[in-house]
Amino acid sequence: MNKAIILAGGQGKRMKADMPKPLFKVLGDPMLEWVIAACESAGVSDICVVKGFMGEMIDEYLNGRYKTVLQAERLGTGHAVMQAIPFMEEDTDGNTLVLCGDAPFIDAETIGEALEYHKQQGNAATVITSELDDPTGYGRILRTASGISGIVEQKDASKEQLSIKEVNSGAYWFRTADLIDLLGKLNNDNVQKEYYLTDTIFIALSEGKKAGAFKSANPELILGANNRKDLLELNDIARRAVIEKHLENGVEFVCTDGVVIERSVEIGAGTQIQPNTILRKGTKIGSNCVIGPNALADHCTIGDNVVLNASQAYDSVIESGVTVGPYVHIRPDSHIKTGVHIGDFVEIKNSTIGEKTAIAHLAYIGDSDIGKKVNIGCGTVTVNYDGISKSRCVIGDNCFIGCNTNLIAPVKLGKAVYTAAGTTVTRDVPDYALAIDRGVMKVNEGYTLRKLKSSK
Ligand code: UD1
Ligand code: CA
Repeated sequence: MNKAIILAGGQGKRMKADMPKPLFKVLGDPMLEWVIAACESAGVSDICVVKGFMGEMIDEYLNGRYKTVLQAERLGTGHAVMQAIPFMEEDTDGNTLVLCGDAPFIDAETIGEALEYHKQQGNAATVITSELDDPTGYGRILRTASGISGIVEQKDASKEQLSIKEVNSGAYWFRTADLIDLLGKLNNDNVQKEYYLTDTIFIALSEGKKAGAFKSANPELILGANNRKDLLELNDIARRAVIEKHLENGVEFVCTDGVVIERSVEIGAGTQIQPNTILRKGTKIGSNCVIGPNALADHCTIGDNVVLNASQAYDSVIESGVTVGPYVHIRPDSHIKTGVHIGDFVEIKNSTIGEKTAIAHLAYIGDSDIGKKVNIGCGTVTVNYDGISKSRCVIGDNCFIGCNTNLIAPVKLGKAVYTAAGTTVTRDVPDYALAIDRGVMKVNEGYTLRKLKSSK
């Protein structure tokens, strides 16, 4: 069976952070996750991640999903792969894919095509390469008339070799048994005093084994992040690619400034995405919506014809025909049903809002179940927390909640209940009743004039 080893031992000193470099995110996912996803969609699921610097963070992130092995000292890419020899020895019949955890754009297609080429050529080792306009920093591919002859690192290269534009992506297919054998023959006789995985190519050839290069026309799949500027560049490339996919699917963008859409987000045709909109993973949006400007949806399911204007929504369902915003915060576990209108400065949390209900302004609805065609007046507050525990409010269909009503949970209002403005509802109210809680208003005539006179 085929296996994959992902190298993630590096520190990434130039990131200036206490975190393994492969955990830095591109479009919301750690680079390591991008590389894992490429393996998985290429059908390679038996994966071992080589961890090193702050390896416990890698374990914490992977949470047992894949095997890991610790490279205690950072002695080079060849040394990193050596740590995974016991993993390879579990099954030496197939091929092993080696990838860098900090080059997120390697894709399943390239992995698959490179494997085909590797097998068809009968290679012991196949390196994936591409040409870069600026090859600085990468290992250069050396060729003779008969094919690849080796890889030379930037720091070890002659002036002439430095002008070579074909570079090593850091991704390879090896016949597993050959890789184990080749690793045993590496030395650290080079400028960096490291065990270079790249030397396996030269060693294989010198032993009469076949080695080759699978050259991709797409230089982006090589790109890695060595510093934060590179990381921003990777984010820009990924962001643009996602937006292009949605454009092809019929999504409209007036201007893409500040628009960040994570990879797995789905958007229906005819939906317009306005500037400064962030759509995070797990979000699915229907057709003909207007999302933004300044909107954020995180793990939300949104129907058709929804307006989400200058608002944020998390882990919630918003059905078709709902209008939200501006300045609305929909917190997790909310379910906003068809035709609801939620206006400015409203917060909703862990609540169900029934069809065609309106919450037009300045309200807090938490831990509540609200029926259909309810009108929630301005300033309504569900008082769901007594400082110790949270309780629910239930409001029946067709209720009319007057402005500045406080509903002290747990409390239940029946169907078509009215509450008078300013009422604090402290017990259940039956169907069709009015709840009113007010002192008698007094009018003190001439008060202002008397006050002015006495202050002279
Ligand atoms: C390596 C290649 C170079 C290639 C480039 C592609 C070697 C000697 N050079 O260079 O030819 O063009 O990748 O990006 O292989 N790592 C470990 N342990 C180590 C050293 C590295 O786990 O001891 C990991 C890093 O976390 C990283 C990957 O291996 O994910 C590559 O290491 P890095 O130091 O970035 O190699 P480069 O010098 O970029
Ligand atoms: Ca690198």
